[in-house]
Amino acid sequence: MSQLQEMMTVVSQREVAYNIFEMVLKGTLVDEMDLPGQFLHLAVSNGAMLLRRPISISSWDKRAKTCTILYRIGDETTGTYELSKLEPGAKVDIMGPLGNGFPVAEVTSTDKILIIGGGIGVPPLYELAKQLEKTGCQMTILLGFASENVKILENEFFNLKNVTLKIATDDGSYGTKGHVGMLMNEIDFEADALYTCGAPAMLKAVAKKYDQLERLYISMESRMACGIGACYACVEHDKEDESHALKVCEDGPVFLGKQLSL
Ligand SMILES: Cc1cc2nc3c(=O)[nH]c(=O)nc-3n(C[C@H](O)[C@H](O)[C@H](O)COP(=O)(O)OP(=O)(O)OC[C@H]3O[C@@H](n4cnc5c(N)ncnc54)[C@H](O)[C@@H]3O)c2cc1C
Ligand code: FES
Repeated sequence: MSQLQEMMTVVSQREVAYNIFEMVLKGTLVDEMDLPGQFLHLAVSNGAMLLRRPISISSWDKRAKTCTILYRIGDETTGTYELSKLEPGAKVDIMGPLGNGFPVAEVTSTDKILIIGGGIGVPPLYELAKQLEKTGCQMTILLGFASENVKILENEFFNLKNVTLKIATDDGSYGTKGHVGMLMNEIDFEADALYTCGAPAMLKAVAKKYDQLERLYISMESRMACGIGACYACVEHDKEDESHALKVCEDGPVFLGKQLSL
């Protein structure tokens, strides 16, 4: 399969929470963005860093040909730190959109949808919720963060229609004190579909509680190298066929819950 690649232009960049940056990018790759949950593979301009960084698309605006990513930076030796230094007008070598995203076409207005996100796994869930809003379904969105200073996208989710939004922080500095699994355990309705992205422990808890749910969609953020299915750096076991390796970059990052052994 031929890969799409473009030198996209940085429109804006700002720190939206502690060490978390929002970058808006412009280019024709936005025309190809289809399913929420797909990701971009960004080259770091520092030539010493050969591997691209996979970052989820948080939202897009087809008319303006822009898309937004939110990413957490590491220390000054990391590629994400380099990316955070880019100024408006800079060009970034980007491949994408890559991977299989969250299915949304099957959702109807009568569906009760549960969305569970944790930390830096929250960004792709925003475009998902924007797409689901158009269906008229009811969404309950549970978000967990380590602390208030790393809370992201609250207003954006809050401003969508038909959304009940609950937030937990590990240290109790905002919302309910504790992890997002506590919010999940308070839910008193049967979800028709559940979409989730976040830390492995959170995904495991969600997968365990909802293992009988057919429409359970889990986005995995495994370590990657090529990002296009060529190197096997990102494999997960296929629960339905032990002899088969699932490549997160190509077969995912979104999988049906029943496919994964978490
Ligand atoms: C599908 C997908 C979507 C993601 N979406 C987001 C997002 O929206 N926002 C965000 O902040 N992070 C996201 N991540 C995680 C992000 O890719 C890593 O945090 C980032 O690559 C780390 O790079 P670095 O330059 O900070 O660290 P470095 O230590 O410089 O990275 C070294 C190498 O390891 C890889 N690597 C290190 N940690 C990870 C990781 N957790 N996942 C994948 N590769 C890693 C890097 O890509 C790079 O190749 C996503 C990961 C995947 C797989
Ligand atoms: S990152 Fe190379 S196969 Fe997935």
